[in-house]
Amino acid sequence: MEKYLYLETFGCQMNEHDSEKIAALLSRNDYRVTQNPRQADVILVNTCAIREKAEQKYLSLLGRYRELKETKPELLIGVGGCAAQQNGEALLRQMPQVDLVFGTHSMLKLPSLLDEAATRRGVVSLDFTTDLADRFDSTLIPLSRHPTRAYVTVMEGCDLFCTFCVVPLTRGREISRPPEQILDEARALAERGVKEITLLGQTVNAYGRRRGEMPFHELLAALDEVPGIARIRFTSSHPRYVTDGLIEAYRRLKHLCPHLHLPVQSGSDRVLERMHRRYSREEYAAIVARVREARPDIAITTDLLVGFPGESEEDFEATLALMREVRFSDAYTFAYSERGGTRAAEFADQLPEKIRKERLARLLALQKAIGFEENRSRVGCVEDVLVEGRSKTRPEKLAGRTGQNKIVTFAGDPALAGTLAPVRILQAFPNSLGGEAV
Ligand code: SAM
Ligand code: SF4
Ligand code: F3S
Repeated sequence: MEKYLYLETFGCQMNEHDSEKIAALLSRNDYRVTQNPRQADVILVNTCAIREKAEQKYLSLLGRYRELKETKPELLIGVGGCAAQQNGEALLRQMPQVDLVFGTHSMLKLPSLLDEAATRRGVVSLDFTTDLADRFDSTLIPLSRHPTRAYVTVMEGCDLFCTFCVVPLTRGREISRPPEQILDEARALAERGVKEITLLGQTVNAYGRRRGEMPFHELLAALDEVPGIARIRFTSSHPRYVTDGLIEAYRRLKHLCPHLHLPVQSGSDRVLERMHRRYSREEYAAIVARVREARPDIAITTDLLVGFPGESEEDFEATLALMREVRFSDAYTFAYSERGGTRAAEFADQLPEKIRKERLARLLALQKAIGFEENRSRVGCVEDVLVEGRSKTRPEKLAGRTGQNKIVTFAGDPALAGTLAPVRILQAFPNSLGGEAV
């Protein structure tokens, strides 16, 4: 009998994509996805543990589902993802409304885990596995929410253990997916009309390092030849794995977007060392210079973390200076949050919350100013835009993204939806561009 599934997702693009995989997998097993939790027979919450705030969000949501379960006792509630992996069975004890806890390596087992949870409360599946067949299902094409673009997992896990980060604890060791599976998935997506793929991995450019398969730049070159795929992006890359081959790919490949997301975290060598990031500020700047030489129009985006233990005013100013020097086209900025199980949480020199917040505000203000200036520099240019359809905020206009990943709203024929269209940029806003189809 058909059952209704409601899925709620927190966290990064990997988690969003995991939810797309869960939706595809359960749709094959007699579940139908609903947008209404009250209609659901099964509610799954895909959680994130990266910062304290992320944990508060899913906990407060589960609080609301407790009331729902009181009115509908046959409802099954499952908690999965990174926070589930970390908190494990404790979640069952804390929250009587939860029936099932599944970790980041248990996703493909969900159909049987849900069957089991229907017969007894308290099913827990948290084992890590390095078995490729348990981790990647070659027959599963995830259900993308966008008709024109899709994510493709190429690797999972992380072996770098930055001292602030829970990901190696929640996602386990680095594992790369076989290249044939990735290429088959890209071909299947192209046949469905997908034009843009974003390759996903926590350190995506470490792809192929362990198993001696294809290095990442060769995978990019192979994907560049898939008919119908007009754009390739990838996230998140790590500076340690930016190779000559990857820089060359920016020079040669036809479909690789002029965009590199390269998290730097800090502009201070002292902080980078304590974060265990494995590169210096100078090495980072040298990579940016080489990539820009290979692809002058490239947009560099980054992640920055301020208020790390022991970060002095001088260290923080080195981060501001790096921001001015590199001129990131966009940045995800975060205030440091202590995470149980990480090394930095044990450091004695944690900074007061007030300093973390104040530095975050200063960082944001500078990035906003730089981003706006970068946007203004595009006015007058003609950019190829992958048109997604009508703008959500201004339905009389169309919306899409440039190769540099900037959102553009523009006047044009709605029939352009799903195509790559040239758009003249006429206006710059702090976070987006405006224009008209040419
Ligand atoms: N793998 C990516 C990399 O190497 O940069 C990052 C993955 S992480 C999911 C995304 C971002 O969250 C990080 O780049 C970092 O800036 C931020 N982050 C990670 N741990 C954090 C913490 N404890 N507090 C605040 N932000 C954190
Ligand atoms: Fe976390 Fe560092 Fe791994 Fe990125 S590289 S996922 S920040 S441990
Ligand atoms: Fe969060 Fe896990 Fe992603 S901790 S940021 S959902 S890898």
